[in-house]
Amino acid sequence: MKVCVIGLGYIGLPTAAMLAKNGNKVLGVDVNPAVLKSLQENAAPSEEPGLHDLVASVLGSGDLKLAGSPEPSDVFILCLPTPIKKDRTPDLDYVESGMASILGVLKNGDMVILESTVPPGTTARLIAGMVKKKGFDPTKDIDLAFAPERVIPGNILKEIQDLDRVMGGLTARASERARSLYSCFVKGQIYLTDATTAEFVKLVENSYRDVNIAFANELAKMAPELGINVWEAIQIANRHPRVNIHTPGPGVGGHCIAVDPYFIIDSVSPGLARLLSTAREVNSSMPGVVVSRLKSEMGDLSGKKVALLGIAYKGNVGDPRESPSLDIFRLLAAGGAAVMAHDPFVKASPVELHTLEETLQDADATLIATNHTAYCNIRPGDAQKLVRGRLIFDTRNVIDPAVWRGAGWKVLILGDGKS
Ligand SMILES: NC(=O)c1ccc[n+]([C@@H]2O[C@H](COP(=O)([O-])OP(=O)(O)OC[C@H]3O[C@@H](n4cnc5c(N)ncnc54)[C@H](O)[C@@H]3O)[C@@H](O)[C@H]2O)c1
Repeated sequence: MKVCVIGLGYIGLPTAAMLAKNGNKVLGVDVNPAVLKSLQENAAPSEEPGLHDLVASVLGSGDLKLAGSPEPSDVFILCLPTPIKKDRTPDLDYVESGMASILGVLKNGDMVILESTVPPGTTARLIAGMVKKKGFDPTKDIDLAFAPERVIPGNILKEIQDLDRVMGGLTARASERARSLYSCFVKGQIYLTDATTAEFVKLVENSYRDVNIAFANELAKMAPELGINVWEAIQIANRHPRVNIHTPGPGVGGHCIAVDPYFIIDSVSPGLARLLSTAREVNSSMPGVVVSRLKSEMGDLSGKKVALLGIAYKGNVGDPRESPSLDIFRLLAAGGAAVMAHDPFVKASPVELHTLEETLQDADATLIATNHTAYCNIRPGDAQKLVRGRLIFDTRNVIDPAVWRGAGWKVLILGDGKS
């Protein structure tokens, strides 16, 4: 197959590389020249295990080629960003312009697969509508399908092969054709349905997790009033064979869980997605909860230095998109604190980053916002050579409070109302 993958980010690049490794001639297309340049020079910019070597090998063999615009192919796969706008409605501009870019080379018999996470009905309405406008019948001339990704950053190459997938075509033929293409590298089961159900399934998976985390966060908020440690309570409750409560924290970030519920909320009548809206509210309130707790411990924040450890939305990845750390940073700064941030993984940070030493130097309080392994291993003895105040607030429950308290630190753990 000649396959054209549009968008070479977290999802598009591994997809293009896996297709190229498994018998297809792939053209990877990205409108950002910096992405292409970096791939040409360094093979893969991301820290994904195995990705650099895989991309280097398929670029070397010529099975993956790179370009700034699409060329005639048998299959086009759209892996484009689908962020939310400021008003929390879906931004489909990237998908629309990526789709527009292939219309000039699209021909009878081609297939278009949308991988981007989108509101239900996008393939059947937006994509099919554009194909129709170009003069094709989207149920006969062109096969259209939606094939979402479920991979987790940090383990993409393994999960892209191992996980079960859902795929939905506009027609049964399109669904089968999508399954047949991906079967060259997907070892998990591929479940077929219609395009709108597949779009909904992808959103439901992440919304389920958002609601579950909101539940955990609500329990964490109650913990101080009840005098319990929420981490202990959840751990014991999860020993029940049919209970699986997720982990509380300073909020929910990333490009998926913090975004996808809005795609459902926006797609249905007002008031119908109440649970999803409430979960979003609870999770979005957590940075405020964290900052209030710190304020109540430190009093007025003005003139105080806070060392913010972690800008990525989760541990051991470099993705700061929608990260609650950014809200925490803004709220602390708005309260008058001098905030200095550190993150060992984030390369392009929306806030200025410093070395760990600079960040801790003369800090009145240290706040762990991301569960990077490096932060679990900080020793209080090392930190206290740098800081001014021995106050640490762990919003991820990664440090051993007994060790830190033993070294003379005041330790706050999010959701610990016991100590
Ligand atoms: N990152 C994840 O872990 C993950 C997981 C599952 C699903 N998704 C979904 O996959 C989709 C892609 O996400 P991502 O994280 O790979 O995005 P990304 O921002 O990492 O990459 C998108 C790439 O598309 C390029 N691009 C933008 N417009 C273009 C155009 N018109 N033509 C060609 N290239 C263009 C950008 O330059 C960028 O390199 C999103 O809908 C996302 O929700 C992401």
